[in-house]
Amino acid sequence: MSTPKKYTITAALPYTNGPIHIGHLAGVYVPADIYARYLRLTGNDVAYICGSDEHGVAIPMRAKKEGVSPQEIIDKYHGIIKKSFEDFGISFDNYSRTSNKIHHETASNFFKNLYNSGEFVEEVSEQLYDAEADQFLADRFVVGTCPKCGNEESYGDQCEKCGTSHNATDLINPKSAITGNVPVLKQTKHWFLPLDKHEAFLREWILEGHKNDWKSNVLGQVKSWIDDGLRPRAVTRDLDWGIPVPVEGADGKVLYVWFDAPIGYISSTKEWAAKEGKNWEDYWKDENTKLVHFIGKDNIVFHCIIFPSMLKAHGDYILPENVPANEFLNLEGNKLSTSKNWAVWLHEYLEEFPGQQDVLRYTLTANAPENKDNDFTWKDFQAKNNNELVAIFGNFINRVVVLTNKYYNGIVPEASDLSEIDEEVLEQLQQYPEIIAKSIERYRFREASQELMNLARLGNKYLADEEPWKVIKQDEERVKTIMNVALQIATGLAVLSEPFIPFTSNKLKSILNIDASLSWTDVTTKDTLITANHQIGKAELLFTKIEDKTIDVQLEKLEATKKANEAANKTVEPQKDTIEFDDFTKMDIRIGTILEAEKVAKTKKLLKLKVDVGIDIRTIVSGIAESFNPEDIVGQQVTVLCNLAPRKIRGVESQGMILMTDTPDGKLAFVEPQQTIQNGGQVC
Ligand code: 2FM
Ligand code: ZN
Repeated sequence: MSTPKKYTITAALPYTNGPIHIGHLAGVYVPADIYARYLRLTGNDVAYICGSDEHGVAIPMRAKKEGVSPQEIIDKYHGIIKKSFEDFGISFDNYSRTSNKIHHETASNFFKNLYNSGEFVEEVSEQLYDAEADQFLADRFVVGTCPKCGNEESYGDQCEKCGTSHNATDLINPKSAITGNVPVLKQTKHWFLPLDKHEAFLREWILEGHKNDWKSNVLGQVKSWIDDGLRPRAVTRDLDWGIPVPVEGADGKVLYVWFDAPIGYISSTKEWAAKEGKNWEDYWKDENTKLVHFIGKDNIVFHCIIFPSMLKAHGDYILPENVPANEFLNLEGNKLSTSKNWAVWLHEYLEEFPGQQDVLRYTLTANAPENKDNDFTWKDFQAKNNNELVAIFGNFINRVVVLTNKYYNGIVPEASDLSEIDEEVLEQLQQYPEIIAKSIERYRFREASQELMNLARLGNKYLADEEPWKVIKQDEERVKTIMNVALQIATGLAVLSEPFIPFTSNKLKSILNIDASLSWTDVTTKDTLITANHQIGKAELLFTKIEDKTIDVQLEKLEATKKANEAANKTVEPQKDTIEFDDFTKMDIRIGTILEAEKVAKTKKLLKLKVDVGIDIRTIVSGIAESFNPEDIVGQQVTVLCNLAPRKIRGVESQGMILMTDTPDGKLAFVEPQQTIQNGGQVC
């Protein structure tokens, strides 16, 4: 563990164009939170900073989709996102928003500073323009083929598939996302940050200076961009949503969202410092402060190339010490997607798993996409809960607390002669802070969470080997020592688990009735973490088993989403060949009522129906059994093609056909009259 320092820890500002899901939590906010909590517990001065990213094209686009104003969108999602973070124990020191005055001022001043010192290139150039929408097309307003990987749905500023960041005019076959039109080129003035000018510094600082301590996925991306040749990047846009460009001759222009958003880290720090009576510059301009950006891999170029170039050009800011970007988390084998609703939304998770934030925090950490994309599966979530949190961590704590209450009324017994095994176990306990710290300090949170679980395993093994429940019959003194040792491990777990599963850590501290101020290093340096004669509380379950049926509900929910997406993407069948009016009049279509319905034996899809079609009551075999229960459709009015030639289906003669249509979730629906019609009523 290193000597205490000041840390500015930033977590990517989420766009307020939708709620947040498990991918956000796993990729950015949980690892950053583990890091921040760990650093606080080890006595460092931490500013863990975040806020909502409320500019950029994503916001007006979402507003358009929901038929409301951009302001309504940012207010709505800022509230939802902020609450989700609080609910999951993400311990930001400040959560701000880029629509705040302090941010507008900070970003404007930053721009003016670079402008005044000649750090921008001002240039009139031809940009993509949608004449029908009367709108220049930048960023998400334009889609086209990525010149690097061939993805046909690349945005104007970045390809989400290969991560490449480009200028909108680089796209092949661009199309307006507003009207679908092919854009024309129109002249407009913008300010460009000449990244080419910073190339040598970036190469030296990252590819040389950090070649041994930055993650290989980050270094790989940075190297590839630098090797491709950096070009000037426009930092202004022709848009009406954003921070106005604060110089003469820039009417109707705003700052590019990726210019203002990272400055949001600075303005959020300023907001926090003002509230706390601190000096924000200590966190951004002091060479001894460690700045660490937690982001997802799609943000690497902005945090490793563009923002550092801005900070360097400004001249008086520190640069990030590390940018431990994560890869992506998938869900049940598919890419998480807000627009396709392919996600586990945090607010929905909490409704379905109330009070179980730590289970998700732990699962996402143990399976974090640290070095490669990873998959979240509900089965794995269940297994991590049942086999690790319940069976190892929870089981150990429960045994310790139950036995202490049973044998000693909850009073910590005194240890007498320590056996070799006791000493070994206590020594191992003392090593865990260092072991876990090493992993955290190298941004290996998966590994760190597994080491924490290993400590619980150590406790379980100790109890299983020492068997106090058997020894109590022959040697009561020995059991006092065993339980004292086990209680030391339980207390160590209460302290060391805090960064990972903070709600459980708190609950455990309250069960053990211990001082919340025990620090990380106390676990190594103190001889006893919980003293003899201390009164602990009663046992409470820390985790509960998750049953298969709970998981099945989640899997069914995803299946329904999949079907709905398939239905939404289904192309409408082309029109059939033209028929004459006479062909139509040949069909005898009538309204009827289902009188009886039963399953056709040994089939999955077929129901045998008795239908009153006015003319007679007839038998019809219909392939609707996967969409309806027979008992639910008796009395249902239906539309029947009556003069279809009868045919035998599974040995039953079917005398007509019920007209059906598909629903978005892949089921069938009846084509039925809006009001009750006499049976036999003709459809014409
Ligand atoms: O990718 C995103 O969701 C961006 N809103 C992240 C911004 S991070 C920062 F620079 F503010
Ligand atoms: Zn691409």
